[in-house]
Amino acid sequence: MNYNFMLVLLAFLVVVLQYSVVAQPSATFNVQSFGAKPDGRTDSTKAFLSAWGAACGSMRPSTIYVPPGRYLLRDARFTGQCKNKGVTFRIDGTLVAPADYWVIGNIGNWLHFEYVSNVNIQGGILDGQGTALWDCKRAGKRCPSGATTLRFSNSNNIMIRGVSSVNSQMFHIVINGCNNVKMSGVNVQASGNSPNTDGIHVQMSSSVTILNSKISTGDDCVSIGAGTSNLWIENVLCGPGHGISIGSLGKDLHEPGVQNVTVKTVTFTGTQNGARIKSWGRPSSGFVRNVLYQHITMVDVHNPIVIDQNYCPGHKNCPGQDSGVKISDISYEDIHGSSATKVAVQFDCSKNYPCSRIKLDNVKLTYGDQPSTASCDNAGGTASGVIVPASCL
Ligand SMILES: *[C@@H]1O[C@H](CO)[C@@H](O)[C@H](O)[C@H]1NC(C)=O
Repeated sequence: MNYNFMLVLLAFLVVVLQYSVVAQPSATFNVQSFGAKPDGRTDSTKAFLSAWGAACGSMRPSTIYVPPGRYLLRDARFTGQCKNKGVTFRIDGTLVAPADYWVIGNIGNWLHFEYVSNVNIQGGILDGQGTALWDCKRAGKRCPSGATTLRFSNSNNIMIRGVSSVNSQMFHIVINGCNNVKMSGVNVQASGNSPNTDGIHVQMSSSVTILNSKISTGDDCVSIGAGTSNLWIENVLCGPGHGISIGSLGKDLHEPGVQNVTVKTVTFTGTQNGARIKSWGRPSSGFVRNVLYQHITMVDVHNPIVIDQNYCPGHKNCPGQDSGVKISDISYEDIHGSSATKVAVQFDCSKNYPCSRIKLDNVKLTYGDQPSTASCDNAGGTASGVIVPASCL
């Protein structure tokens, strides 16, 4: 046999072997074959849950396909563990929450994934229809607290790609008790005066990444709660909203800390805060350590760089107390742009546990044609490179 022929034969065998052993064909479940109607009016909750049941119960890797159109869904829980190595939701349509906020407003969550692994959500628009609830809250009327649009709890290896979340009643996306969550191309949209509509909230979770996303909302762009570690945020546009916030932390006496957070190449436009760390002025076991803010652009941000350890809303249960949250190793590198207030840098730290090893490196924040200022209380660290306003560390 000639050598070339043997090579071709070998390559052929490898391909056949791969197809039969590795590339197990995946199963696709179209929500319309389970009765979902793309008319925006028919309740499709049961159909989606049946499709999930079939996909999750299949031994093969499965895809749930949502064709174009609007699908009305009440609250839905998608629970695992599934029998297979993964379920993909491929959404070409829009999922719509009930317009009447009383239907899901007291349930906590609209679309809730729990105890799942290897779930992948690709594309689609999630429309929380929250505007009526925001009006109710702003008018100070009796209204429910509202539902989070998309929540993952106690889950691993999750991917959320190219998903848009608009007008959530409450938080848009919550990651709680999860490990290894990758989000990219996420688009969050809610008006700048919508209450409690945080874009992405992460807590009790590790190895979460948020890439290439745009978040416009009435509350935090990203909020980072207790027990978060190894969080990576890169190439994100924030605004309007309240910025990227670590906290509020230290509400409880016993609380896990936040560590290893990277916020890189982020632009804040017209937000209330930029890079914020916030803790209650109360005793706590909590901490924040190893945080890096790098290549950040601020455009008319009210508090571009802020650590506030005296959070005490309504001045109840905290006045006169001091925060127990220990803040250390916080680096700000290449932060530039404009502040909408005179105080561009503010470190208001705990008296008993001063902030330590804060590092400023090339920070330049201007305030119109007037000088900007920095303010420090109980904060220590170093500054290098160009620093405007002058460092108070
Ligand atoms: C910090 O988190 C990143 C992911 O965000 C990870 O790659 C890195 O290994 C972590 N570093 C430490 C010291 O755990």
